[in-house]
Amino acid sequence: MMALSDAPIGVFDSGVGGLSVLAEAVRQLPGERFIYFGDTKNAPYGTKSTEEVRALAFNVVEGLLSQQVKAVVIACNTATAEAAQALRAAYSIPVIGMEPALKPAAELERPGLRLVMATPGTLGSEKYARLYARFGQQAVSLSCPGLMEFVEAGDRGSDALRAYLRTLFAPYRDQPVAAVVLGCTHYCFLRPLIASYFPASTAVLDGNAGTVRQLKRVLAERGLLSAREKGGVSLQTSGGEQSAALMARMFAEASGQAPSEAG
Ligand code: DGL
Repeated sequence: MMALSDAPIGVFDSGVGGLSVLAEAVRQLPGERFIYFGDTKNAPYGTKSTEEVRALAFNVVEGLLSQQVKAVVIACNTATAEAAQALRAAYSIPVIGMEPALKPAAELERPGLRLVMATPGTLGSEKYARLYARFGQQAVSLSCPGLMEFVEAGDRGSDALRAYLRTLFAPYRDQPVAAVVLGCTHYCFLRPLIASYFPASTAVLDGNAGTVRQLKRVLAERGLLSAREKGGVSLQTSGGEQSAALMARMFAEASGQAPSEAG
């Protein structure tokens, strides 16, 4: 019988955004097997109600559990904000979530605003309100409905995308900005473009490395780290073939490899 520690880890998001977390997880945990699920058919999550996101998250986790995962990573700030607590209450396996990197942004020893980009769902959640109360002193929350759709379409710099970002950042053009927080995993794919609107001294932060460190810590505590040397990745989507092809390309991009032909 397979040891529980050799079981795969489930990772999910509303689409391709969480692939940026998956790539980091593979870097930090090369011996693990990962099953990634992009819920493309039901994207976006960020403009849906708490109840809707919760129902979708439970559905995805049930699908991952049927593939015998030993842990679940919610590679989505929105689904974490809306559903992590309920998932943890319902299941005994570790459920690792993520949150916008407000704390690292607050800890930067630099004056200036911290611009937090996230979905309406994340910014409207109780979890975010608590985080903001603790670390939001210099933070400005920027709601970004419609931004993840550019990433899902494979867009990295169209005129429409640039116009969206220009309008979003315009009020802060003449103010010092210490950090921009990428509070949605999709925005990690727009990092160079987003950074281009700010001076080089502005930090662009995401929560990916911290989330994977937490995964590693929890697996170690529970004796669930795989002893294998080489793991692997299986990409799954509720979307069609086109979504699968985009996912393969974007995972290659996030892993720092040259994009390969999607298979
Ligand atoms: N990638 C998700 C996040 O981190 C949100 C995208 C969506 O709206 O579905 O919040």
